[in-house]
Amino acid sequence: MVKPRAQMTEVAMYSPGKPVEELQRELGLSRVIKMASNENPYGSSPKARNAMMEEMENIHFYPEVTAPVLADALSKHLNVSSDRFIFGNGSDEIIRMLTRTYVNPGEEVVMAEVTFPRYRTNVFIEGGVPVSVPMRDGTHDLEGMKTALNERTKMVFVCNPNNPTGTIVGEQELLRFLESIPPDVLVVLDEAYYEYVHSGDYLESLEYLDQFPNLIILRTFSKVYGMASVRVGYGITQPEIVQELLKGKEPFNVNRLAQVGAVAALEDNEFLENTLKKNKEGRMYLEDAFKRLGLSSFPTHTNFIMVDVKQDAAAVHESLLKQGVIIRPGHVMGYPTMLRVTIGTEEENEQFSRALEKTLEAMNV
Ligand SMILES: Cc1ncc(COP(=O)(O)O)c(C=O)c1O
Repeated sequence: MVKPRAQMTEVAMYSPGKPVEELQRELGLSRVIKMASNENPYGSSPKARNAMMEEMENIHFYPEVTAPVLADALSKHLNVSSDRFIFGNGSDEIIRMLTRTYVNPGEEVVMAEVTFPRYRTNVFIEGGVPVSVPMRDGTHDLEGMKTALNERTKMVFVCNPNNPTGTIVGEQELLRFLESIPPDVLVVLDEAYYEYVHSGDYLESLEYLDQFPNLIILRTFSKVYGMASVRVGYGITQPEIVQELLKGKEPFNVNRLAQVGAVAALEDNEFLENTLKKNKEGRMYLEDAFKRLGLSSFPTHTNFIMVDVKQDAAAVHESLLKQGVIIRPGHVMGYPTMLRVTIGTEEENEQFSRALEKTLEAMNV
């Protein structure tokens, strides 16, 4: 038996939301809805799809290594110079590039206890030490994270808004936190759900890139732009950090369809606005439904909600699956009575609420 590297004993395979087709096959259900992976239920921009169809003509050519057209488009869109962008096969890959490039075996990486699991996995792969700091009411405890820093700390992850809780940290609190981090510690600010944020108390982090040369901001086309399967995410940081990350990057990591699709998606403001409007309506609908059922949820700034169903999450999950509804149970994330549900279309939200109500009624008798 060939032995894998010792670090791999710590690593578990990523467990994705259950695919619709799998549940249909297992239970013989014709209608199954998936509200488990924070995808965009309204699809993707028609402009992006058309651009990708046209680009099909060229898929026999390798894509450009640094995605310069996309970098220019984002540069104009965000008013940031184009040499500050690094692109990944999803922002997942940028997380991998960051740990690959910066984390030495034995070095510590500070993160929230319940946050995006890929941080921990990638730190383990490098032989680094993830240091988890308990949350406060589903929110990052930045003070606690500060005290977790020591001379072995190499990197800090702040997921803002946080997956799976949907919460954000306050603007001033985050600013003070950034000020307190030594310049030789890299701060990764994961803003995968940035576009959904509807709070006045949220740090516009792009404005602070010059003040904090140890900061990298991560964003993605997988969520509000509805391109999860095409795989394109990006980091915004110092040109020097981009150059370091490029050294270890797979040369052709962002394919041609992804590059042109992302450029076209940026031009489709109508799709973006429609997604945000419907997501807000869906959020309000679900929050009302939870209130009616006497349930509380973490305040969300994303396209998903974490709700406390006050019952065993695994059992509620099972019951919902039988009714053709796929969500993420909280017991696998450290919240044994909570569910994370992606905000769906009107119809999906209604089906989910009905199924949840039925489940809870059956459990309470
Ligand atoms: C917080 C966070 N970061 C990063 C990602 C990775 O996104 P992608 O690789 O699709 O860009 C996700 C996906 O769910 C996420 O929730």
